[in-house]
Amino acid sequence: MKMASVDGTNRVSMLIAALEKNCGTSDAQVHVAKAPGRVNLIGEHTDYNEGFVFPIAIDRNVIIAGRRRSDRRVRVYSADYEQLNEFSLDDIAFDKQMAWSNYIRGILAVLQDAGCELSGMDLVVTGNIPQGAGLSSSAALEIATADIATALCDLTIDPVDTAKLAQKAENEFVGVQCGIMDQFVSKLGRKDHALLIDCRSLEYRHIPWLSDQVRVLIADTRVQRGLVDSEYNKRRQECETGLQALSQVLSGITALRDVSISQFREHAHILDPVVRARCQHVVYENARVLEAVEALESGDWVHLGQLMYASHESLRDLYEVSCPELNAMVEIARSVEGVYGARMTGAGFGGCAIALVEERALEDLEKAILRRYPEMTGRDPQLLHTGVASGAHTCFWKGQ
Ligand code: GLA
Repeated sequence: MKMASVDGTNRVSMLIAALEKNCGTSDAQVHVAKAPGRVNLIGEHTDYNEGFVFPIAIDRNVIIAGRRRSDRRVRVYSADYEQLNEFSLDDIAFDKQMAWSNYIRGILAVLQDAGCELSGMDLVVTGNIPQGAGLSSSAALEIATADIATALCDLTIDPVDTAKLAQKAENEFVGVQCGIMDQFVSKLGRKDHALLIDCRSLEYRHIPWLSDQVRVLIADTRVQRGLVDSEYNKRRQECETGLQALSQVLSGITALRDVSISQFREHAHILDPVVRARCQHVVYENARVLEAVEALESGDWVHLGQLMYASHESLRDLYEVSCPELNAMVEIARSVEGVYGARMTGAGFGGCAIALVEERALEDLEKAILRRYPEMTGRDPQLLHTGVASGAHTCFWKGQ
């Protein structure tokens, strides 16, 4: 653990004040953990098919300040909800009243199940990642919790294992069947680098972002992702159905990741049309991710942008997880000179689109979205600037 400072000093000072106000003063050392949200450049709905994804961490994050206690109580104050939640490490149950606390409860439960010895703790939490916008605010909360617990309880956990435990907490405690991408990049992202993750082996590579003249704009449709859970699970099931059928004719495949484009072309006719379309998206999207990595490595923004548009079209037409508002964002972005590419990001059915844009065209893009998006959809968008941020980190609070 580093004696570094966490940026966002004002937010941290506010948290320390809230810690003292809600949990009293103490001599125990205060630690601070910060974990970012994410957007995915490309590689959507591939993680649970053991394929490739290519996300970046964003400048929005969750910060937790905490102190160790000598008993088994956990007290967590949410500065955003202004709610205090308390429980014992010996009885961690799902809390229907304060849903936000389940991410924290879930992480502490899976850490204990994995054999980690935890002590009680007083925590305060704040976040500035828009919730329900598909920017992985929950993964950031999970990772920040895992990191603060690791720091307070003197544990050593491999970063990839932290991501796996966080995914487990979301799958088993919170009850959302997500893949590994969001937790992985929140933990392992690196400043000014995109992160290629092989979701089968969990090997990863940081690919440098070679230009400070190319930016990512996040455009929130402000459509709440209503269908996301049921449709997400349905897509997972359809992929499973496709895999079962293809494994009858392709020996040795255990995930759609194993199916090449030429094998898919040869055998696609055995699949029913909906399942065929879902599998086609996954097979081609995996290939697009690897091409996108090469494009970023060589600074070929034009090609990277084309791949993003192709990914969006595939998600819209084959995987059917887009919506009119996301399509409108991409259409507007496409019409602005200086935009390389745009696509929906995350699970879909609302949430955010991203655009890859030259710095000099950023303002034109923003103006175009602010003018045309309300005309096309009747909604007001929210635009977020982001750099390519670093993954989670932890430090001591040294006072101001
Ligand atoms: C959500 C999930 C991720 C991933 C994306 C789709 O963000 O949490 O694991 O499956 O959807 O790519």
